[in-house]
Amino acid sequence: MITVEALSVSYGQAAPALKSTTLSFERGAFTVLLGASGAGKSTLLRALNGLVKPTSGKVVTADFGPLSSGANLRSHRRRTGMIFQQHQLIGRSSVLENVLMGRLGYHNSLRTLFPFGRDERLRALSAIERVGLIEYALRRADQLSGGQQQRVGIARALVQQPDIILADEPVASLDPATAEAVLSLIHGIAKQDGLTAVVSLHQLDFARRFADRIIGLAHGEVVFDGKPTDLSELDITRLYQTAPMVGAAKNLDHSAMELVA
Ligand SMILES: Nc1ncnc2c1ncn2[C@@H]1O[C@H](COP(=O)(O)OP(=O)(O)OP(=O)(O)O)[C@@H](O)[C@H]1O
Ligand SMILES: [Mg+2]
Repeated sequence: MITVEALSVSYGQAAPALKSTTLSFERGAFTVLLGASGAGKSTLLRALNGLVKPTSGKVVTADFGPLSSGANLRSHRRRTGMIFQQHQLIGRSSVLENVLMGRLGYHNSLRTLFPFGRDERLRALSAIERVGLIEYALRRADQLSGGQQQRVGIARALVQQPDIILADEPVASLDPATAEAVLSLIHGIAKQDGLTAVVSLHQLDFARRFADRIIGLAHGEVVFDGKPTDLSELDITRLYQTAPMVGAAKNLDHSAMELVA
């Protein structure tokens, strides 16, 4: 379980990207984060892995304790697989080499460039097989389609033997059919392995289908937290309504004045 306690995040002087938020992510649950662009989904996800530091409050895991400690954070990250929208693969490297990168957290950073032993290679091949890409294992990553590359990203997360999967819009750049297949794969693996998954999505229909729990964010605040079946049309309107026009107009005036000054 991961708990965020009165967590807030501000970047510089701007309004907080995440206002004081307290939440627990139960072991084994598949949670989907929904919300308009800029609502704070990536900020919350990144805070769960210490990639964004709390401005106030804290993130605590049941296994390792508060992430403010460097040693706790390292242990937590080792068991947390990240899946990104842009998969962040090394294009010139093979699928196998990319997947092996997921093992780096288990190595002392000062060891040789290719410290991977037979066990790790077998583990990587089995992760590649699990995402259906075994015949591509030695192919350069940049020769794969977008959906296949995202599967490599999933295999790279799996080879870490994660307890937790954090995925930030993992299917945003894929066509609808491929997106469904990739999300279904992530969901299936998470359920089979009993992983805690937190996944941000822009597709409501996917959220409804796959989530055990939906957390809706608007303007850095949780405005919905419940089962997909409890998400009403009104909740959806609140999630996706844009900033009040009055405020927007005020900001515009302000910048216009600065331009003139
Ligand atoms: N590194 C950063 N520096 C400054 N401001 C940032 C940074 N990252 C995010 N923000 C701001 O914080 C707010 C929340 O951003 P965040 O990326 O968490 O939103 P999001 O819900 O993931 O949006 P999207 O759906 O577009 O990915 C936004 O106003 C954004 O501009
Ligand atoms: Mg985002």
